[in-house]
Amino acid sequence: AVKKMWGGRFTAVSPEFAQEFGASISFDQVMAAEDIEGSIAHVTMLGTTGILPQADADKIKAGLLEIQSELAAGKLEFDVANEDIHMNIEAILTAKIGPVAGKLHTARSRNDQVATDFHLWVTHRLPEVTAAISKLQAVLVQLAEANVETILPGTTHLQHAQPISLGHYFMSYYSMLQRDKERFQFNQQHASISPLGAAALAGTTFPIDRQQTADLLHFNSVYTNSLDAVSDRDFAVEYLSNAALLMMHLSRLSEELIIWASFEYQYVELDDAYSTGSSIMPQKKNADYAELIRGKVGRVYGDLTSLLTVMKGLPLAYNKDMQEDKEGVFDATTTIMGSLHVMTGMMSTLHIKQDNMAAAVQNDFSNATELADYLATKGLPFRQAHAVVGQLVLTGIKTHTPLQDMPLTQLQAASDLIEADVYKDLDPVVAVARRTSFGGTGFDSVRAQIALAQKQLEED
Ligand code: ARG
Repeated sequence: AVKKMWGGRFTAVSPEFAQEFGASISFDQVMAAEDIEGSIAHVTMLGTTGILPQADADKIKAGLLEIQSELAAGKLEFDVANEDIHMNIEAILTAKIGPVAGKLHTARSRNDQVATDFHLWVTHRLPEVTAAISKLQAVLVQLAEANVETILPGTTHLQHAQPISLGHYFMSYYSMLQRDKERFQFNQQHASISPLGAAALAGTTFPIDRQQTADLLHFNSVYTNSLDAVSDRDFAVEYLSNAALLMMHLSRLSEELIIWASFEYQYVELDDAYSTGSSIMPQKKNADYAELIRGKVGRVYGDLTSLLTVMKGLPLAYNKDMQEDKEGVFDATTTIMGSLHVMTGMMSTLHIKQDNMAAAVQNDFSNATELADYLATKGLPFRQAHAVVGQLVLTGIKTHTPLQDMPLTQLQAASDLIEADVYKDLDPVVAVARRTSFGGTGFDSVRAQIALAQKQLEED
């Protein structure tokens, strides 16, 4: 027989390179804390149910607690010969307390063990992720509050469309992040289900108490089907999908910061602390961090696609393919946490050039809708109003005259419905202020959004 934990029926070991290929200890050691926690819950239950003599359970538990503090002190060392975190911890336990350690694995398989560890790991990360999202949201709300009356061109197709409040713009990202947060919060419902006690695939003959271990591990519920319990990775797919959406939002914000910081725009300047220089061009100040967040979306999309692909077509129950489920989740977590922290720092130090934003709405015909609305209010069907203003814009472009600079006689020649009161409507500030429809960019509407957001953040 071979000296592996499962070596009884084996007469040969895999060559070292194959063992290394098959091992997961290089990455699943990040679940060491969860593995120990899961084992402590399991052995506690083995004791209270009388499946193990209480003295044995106590001995095992004491050993595990010791390993727990060694882990916290950074003193644990793992061996690739022990394949994964589960067998590494058990080997360390055996070295500590002797053969009684072998009783820990009663009524348990690595299949429900790894599923338990992975569920626990994700349930532990979810509140950290939502807290990091809240921090970024809080910065966005502060920026919005300071910029309710800062006007800039709102664009569609990246062309100047209508003037908007910069506060409104920041609040749109707040809303995206709120949905991201809600998705991660919902994710907990599917992550916080205990697979422990499903054993290899079929349950066990021992009189285990699955509710007890679930309670000890603070799981919300217990899988009702043992095959599903060891085979389900939906919670991880959901997590990665939520991460992918979050990164998509951060990449859009990054892209806008990059454009806005460009020489052509100069709407914002990134703080020196969140920019980098060039090794050859002394004048350069680059938005590297924003670019990197935009770029890191790629790996998170990759992590999601990878897990969906690993799980596709897998027959029940556990298959070794599923060892490939973890690295993407770990990678995505590092990526979203880093991106959220950097984005929070970048936004909280952002320099906004209000004057440049204001100047950009002066001569860009972005008040054309105001004139069309003015005519529509006077009774002209909107389609006709649109055509009238379109003609004026055409003339204005040719003569370099924005609508507000055209003399009244010229405007009246286009439509006799126009009177002197039209000019106040053409002011971009008025154009924004008046958009008080629910969810619109009007100052009062933006203030209402901010008030609601502040309440939401407090309740978190
Ligand atoms: N290292 C394995 C994984 O990550 C643990 C489960 C192994 N179980 C098995 N029967 N090979 O999935």
